[in-house]
Amino acid sequence: MAGLLRAEKLCKDSILHEISFEMESGEMLGIMGPSGSGKSTLLYQVAGMDRPSSGKVWLGDVEITGLTEDEKAGLRLRRMGFVFQQMNMMANLNLLDNILLPALQANRGRKGRSKAELTAAARMLMKKLSISGLEERRITQVSGGQLQRACICRSLMNAPEILFADEPTGALNKGAAAEVMAELIKLNREGTGVLIVTHDARVAGSCHRILYLLDGEIRGELQLGKPLPGDEKLREDKVNRWLGEIGW
Ligand SMILES: Nc1ncnc2c1ncn2[C@@H]1O[C@H](COP(=O)(O)OP(=O)(O)OP(=O)(O)O)[C@@H](O)[C@H]1O
Ligand SMILES: [Mg+2]
Repeated sequence: MAGLLRAEKLCKDSILHEISFEMESGEMLGIMGPSGSGKSTLLYQVAGMDRPSSGKVWLGDVEITGLTEDEKAGLRLRRMGFVFQQMNMMANLNLLDNILLPALQANRGRKGRSKAELTAAARMLMKKLSISGLEERRITQVSGGQLQRACICRSLMNAPEILFADEPTGALNKGAAAEVMAELIKLNREGTGVLIVTHDARVAGSCHRILYLLDGEIRGELQLGKPLPGDEKLREDKVNRWLGEIGW
């Protein structure tokens, strides 16, 4: 498989120490580790949202760490999707307009898809994520799970190659978390790479591979392979045993 994302000796102040890893295209990679171990910081560095102190990051054959801020913003908009816990949805817009926002931004100054085409694409995504009918609702008028699914729709508007998710199910109850994970797994099956930070062994169990971060260093790795129907419990148990051995 071709390389999707690669970090080489990534350092950030005293938080991250020479982190190196690779992600293959189509991979779903989990990052676990205690609170404060540097998981979110790592995500910000590899997604080009922050500037590492040293080290390099590539998305495919583009060296992100060699780009200007504007070039990085363009890369994030067109090739990456983000699903974070603090979702940065606009309170003064309805769900549909929130979902449309990145696509309108990406189209600005270009002869791209028309607003009508983008709106149709947004509605299609909402249907796919089972939140049709909520287009006109404000973000305060939907449940946490529905909002998180809207956030996934928004992150998919520009068909990203890679999706970065930081605790996407952290604020959700079990049912809503399972719904959101089912969508992320589906997307991944369709070819989108997913890098997901999570505390949840069940969520991590859906990943093909998990890295364990401690004090800003990768201290462990668990290979799980692709999920098969009905093996969720087995994988969750495997993650829990691994975490136990590591001393989580
Ligand atoms: N902007 C910042 N400036 C200085 N220190 C920071 C900054 N952001 C995070 N830190 C520190 O870096 C360390 C790692 O934080 P980070 O948010 O990456 O942890 P995390 O593993 O994501 O934790 P959690 O599981 O609680 O989300 C912490 O000690 C934190 O206080
Ligand atoms: Mg964090």
